Amino acid sequence: MTITKAVIPAAGMGTRFLPATKSMPKEMLPIIDKPVLQYVVEEAAASGIEDILIVTGRGKRAVEDHFDFNPELEAFLKDNGKTDLIEQVQGIGDQCRVFYIRQKKQLGLGDAIRLAREHVGREPFAVLLGDTIIDPPAGSPPGLRQLLDAYEKKHASVVAVHRVPRPWVSRYGIVDGRPDAGDSENLVRLRRLVEKPKPADAPSELAIAGRYVFTPEIFDCIDHTGRGVGGEIQLTDAMNLLAQQQPMYALAWQAKRYDIGDRVEYAKCFIDFALRRADTGAAVREHLKTIL
Ligand code: G1P
Repeated sequence: MTITKAVIPAAGMGTRFLPATKSMPKEMLPIIDKPVLQYVVEEAAASGIEDILIVTGRGKRAVEDHFDFNPELEAFLKDNGKTDLIEQVQGIGDQCRVFYIRQKKQLGLGDAIRLAREHVGREPFAVLLGDTIIDPPAGSPPGLRQLLDAYEKKHASVVAVHRVPRPWVSRYGIVDGRPDAGDSENLVRLRRLVEKPKPADAPSELAIAGRYVFTPEIFDCIDHTGRGVGGEIQLTDAMNLLAQQQPMYALAWQAKRYDIGDRVEYAKCFIDFALRRADTGAAVREHLKTIL
């Protein structure tokens, strides 16, 4: 079955980014001139997704405005002869059908995904964390496309993982498994998943990287998941239940992952993208050479 629907949870408070996130969703932080969430929506669209449900919450109205039509802005740009910019702002919401639902209480990522149940129905679907930019090596398919290809091969839930240094495992969901016979080392059949384990308890150094493909049975698993780390309903705990019921895989990929909720990662992402862009690259490189 071809996957056409994706869910983007974007309801987190963004406390690590206060005061910026007092009045602005962290998903709207810009990398140069484009909000993080737009990169995520573009990745989904480039991967073949046609329908996106964004899970928002209080203080997130800028998200809806960003993907909406803005006639006043377009009229202003037209009057000022900035027609090239009109095309850019017009196209933002046209890449997919975008829907919204609000999470009323901050009960965790598992709860946010559960809110998508009626929208998704009994179909497999993708999840892209709205505060995470995935940057595959040049020439590789978009991050989510790589997961969808793995789903089409296995017809089972797949989660993207990347290897992290052992002291970092307590920031992530960590997976345990081994490849099926005939599969590459990069595709691991999952046995167990643990959210934010202590380094000594972690079953591996493979960390969940913010992109997932699920069979619809994940919703029943979330229903049977109690509060976990941080008192929240953790998606990783629901995935651990799912892995006991049906085959589930992790795809270890080469893509870079930027967690925009983390100040250092945000700064790195901004610099990497600024160095790469034709309109900013040379000047930023020159500046970095001077100050370093
Ligand atoms: C969430 C997930 C975690 C995953 C991480 C990836 O954690 O719960 O399993 O590894 O995203 O970005 P959070 O960053 O919301 O604490």
